[in-house]
Amino acid sequence: MSSYQEIVEREQKYLLNTYARYPLAIARGKGVYVYDVDGKRYLDFLTGLGVNALGHAHPRIVKVIRDQATKVIHVSNLYYNEYQGLLAQKLCTASGLDRAFFSNSGTEAIEGALKLVRAAGHAISPEKSIVIALDNSFHGRTMGALALTGQPKYRKDFDPMLEGVRFVPRNDVEALCNAMDDKVCAIVLEPIQGEGGIQETTPEFLQACRAMADQKRAALIFDEIQCGLGRTGRLFAFEHFGVKPDVVCIAKPLAAGLPLGAFLATEKFAQHITPGKHGTTFGGGPLTCRVALEYLAILEDENLLERVRRVGAYFSQKLREFVDRFEIATEVRGVGAIQALQLNIPGKPVMDGALANGLLINVTQDNVLRFLPPFLLEEKHVDRGVRILKKQLAAAQKQAKAEKKAAVKA
Ligand SMILES: Cc1ncc(COP(=O)(O)O)c(C=O)c1O
Repeated sequence: MSSYQEIVEREQKYLLNTYARYPLAIARGKGVYVYDVDGKRYLDFLTGLGVNALGHAHPRIVKVIRDQATKVIHVSNLYYNEYQGLLAQKLCTASGLDRAFFSNSGTEAIEGALKLVRAAGHAISPEKSIVIALDNSFHGRTMGALALTGQPKYRKDFDPMLEGVRFVPRNDVEALCNAMDDKVCAIVLEPIQGEGGIQETTPEFLQACRAMADQKRAALIFDEIQCGLGRTGRLFAFEHFGVKPDVVCIAKPLAAGLPLGAFLATEKFAQHITPGKHGTTFGGGPLTCRVALEYLAILEDENLLERVRRVGAYFSQKLREFVDRFEIATEVRGVGAIQALQLNIPGKPVMDGALANGLLINVTQDNVLRFLPPFLLEEKHVDRGVRILKKQLAAAQKQAKAEKKAAVKA
C-alpha cells in the first residue's frame, strides 16, 4: 500500500488542481469511523459531504453490492432493469410526486429539473423561461446549476452564465414578489442551504414561494440534495414546512455512496419531457437502484429517522452549550444530521485541530463549522465529538484573545 506521502505527491503531479484537500488519506471505514493509511481512527461527522448516511461498510449495503455485481451492474437506459421502476415507485410514493428521473450526481439532477421547467414554461409561452434562485445558494458545478448558484466565488471565471436567472435574498417575500412575473417558469431553492452555511428558509417564505409559483403557473423546485433523504429526521426536508414542491432534487446518500441522483416531479410538469428530450448513459442502473432501495429499506428497518431526530436534538443541545460557553461561538443552526456552529473567527484552525485529534468536520463560508454526521450516530459518539470540539474551541478562543491583545498593544 502507498504511504500518505506517496499518495499526496502522485495526486499533486497528475490531478487537475481542483481540491484543497485536508491532510488525510482514508483507507477504510466501519460504521461511524474511518481509518487513515496508517491505521489511525477518526470519528466521521462529515460522511463524505453528506453521502455516507449509513456510515461505512454497512453489512446490508455490502451484501447487496456484492450480489448485484455478480448479476449485472449496468444495462443503459435502452433497456428495462428490475430496480429502476421499483425505486421510482418508492420515491414517488414517499414524496407524493409522480415521476422520477435518475442521474449520476446532484448537479445533473438540477440540470434535468431545469430542462423540465423550461420545457413546461415554453409550452405556455416562448418567453416563459426565467428561473428565480436565492442568494447564497449552491446547486452544483455544471453550467446550468452554476447559473442558479447565488455565490459569485463559484461563478467567477466562467462567464457567460446561462441567461434568465434572477436572484432574491432568502426569506425576503417582498423581493420574491417583485421578481415574479409571467416570464418566470420556476423558483428553485434549498429548504436548508447547505454549502451556504446551514441557513434555513422560513415556512412563511416557502408558503409565499408556493403561492407565487401557483399564481404564475411556475414550478417550485426544492433542491434537497444535501438536506433530503433523512438528514433532517424526515425523509424529505419539505415535510417539516408543510409546503410541497412540484419538483424535488435528491442525490448524496441515495445509493449509500454509489453515484446516484434523481429529480421527482408532478405529472403536470413531468409530461413535458418526452422520449429524446433528456437522458443519461449511467443514471438509474440496476446496481445503484438496487442499493438505493436497500438504503431506503434500512432507514425504515433500523428506525433511523427517529434516531436522527433524537440524537440530532442531543447534538444541538451540546452545540448550544458551546454558544453559552465560548465568545467565538455565536449561533447553532440546522436540525438532525445537518447542523452548524457559527463562529465569529475563521473556522479552519478548529477544523484542523479536530482532524488532528480524530474528528472529521468541515468549514463552510469561512466561519461556519458544518456537521453532516451519519444517521447511525449515538449519544456516546456525540459526547466524543463534542469533547474534541470543546478542546479546539477553547484553544481557538485563547488564540483569538491573544491576537486581539497584541493588536491593541501595537
Ligand atoms: C444543495 C446541493 N445541490 C447540489 C449539489 C451538487 O451535487 P453534486 O456534487 O453531487 O453534483 C450539492 C453538493 O454539495 C448540494 O449541496
